[in-house]
Amino acid sequence: MFLLAYSLSAGHFLLGFSTTPALWRILESLFMSDSILSTDKISLVYTDGARSTHALREVSIQIPNKRFVGIMGPSGSGKSSLLYILSGLKRPTSGDVVLDNYRFGAHSDLDLIDLRRQRFGFVFQQPYLLVWQTAMENVLMGAPTLDAEARRKAQGYFEQLGITEMADKLPSQLSGGEKQRVCVARAMMNDPDVIFADEPTASLDHANGHLVVDLLSAYRERGTVVVVTHDPEMLQGADSVLLMRDGESLGWREPSEVLNAAGPSKTVAL
Ligand SMILES: Nc1ncnc2c1ncn2[C@@H]1O[C@H](COP(=O)(O)OP(=O)(O)O)[C@@H](O)[C@H]1O
Ligand SMILES: [Mg+2]
Repeated sequence: MFLLAYSLSAGHFLLGFSTTPALWRILESLFMSDSILSTDKISLVYTDGARSTHALREVSIQIPNKRFVGIMGPSGSGKSSLLYILSGLKRPTSGDVVLDNYRFGAHSDLDLIDLRRQRFGFVFQQPYLLVWQTAMENVLMGAPTLDAEARRKAQGYFEQLGITEMADKLPSQLSGGEKQRVCVARAMMNDPDVIFADEPTASLDHANGHLVVDLLSAYRERGTVVVVTHDPEMLQGADSVLLMRDGESLGWREPSEVLNAAGPSKTVAL
């Protein structure tokens, strides 16, 4: 599909037509039709006594397969809520999520736990590790079965992530950046179709933040990566960025557009 879109745009260029928004919309829909996850008018309302908060308002989006996409927006715009609903960690108040042909709404909570275990990986803002287990043991927790093959694979990730010498250390002996790399390795152990990351670089310095995002972005060869972040610079290598505001989707943007919108303060002005 991507090739078709590419060849269409190449032909468009060669014929010297002016770029029309309509053509780009067609190309975008072609590109986006190769999606793995989609939402159909999802809304999420938190009710706390007499007070209701609309965290999401009829969000309909498609997440393309084997791409690295970002979700950006101000604090409170619904980014985490959207990520949790996309990953089946939270149920929407209305609307539904579809993974391939699997409708979340038609399945029980136990089914969704199975789905997450088999097909999704997670990286959170804080690197949650079991404190009494070594880095290697923590990574092995993400393996579907604990065998020699899983151990080999985990060792491979430690090498790839540059933390080989950390394998036998406890989390308390690791820096924040090392802990987050351990979390990335754990998220990849079940070869997930989608990795979800919620502000994975927020508690890291710039260099470690880039390292973690680079590792996540490389996973797009094997699966889809969805990263929520405040920092547009972290998404410069992304294929596309979804902007959120007040619980609504403002649509997809090029990473460079998001950076330009952010200006020197690195905070997106929406
Ligand atoms: N557990 C909750 N109970 C009530 N309101 C919540 C809860 N979680 C989030 N919210 C509200 O929902 C809105 C969206 O929150 P969230 O998805 O966390 O946004 P973001 O990740 O973009 O900061 C915010 O107004 C937030 O205060
Ligand atoms: Mg959040």
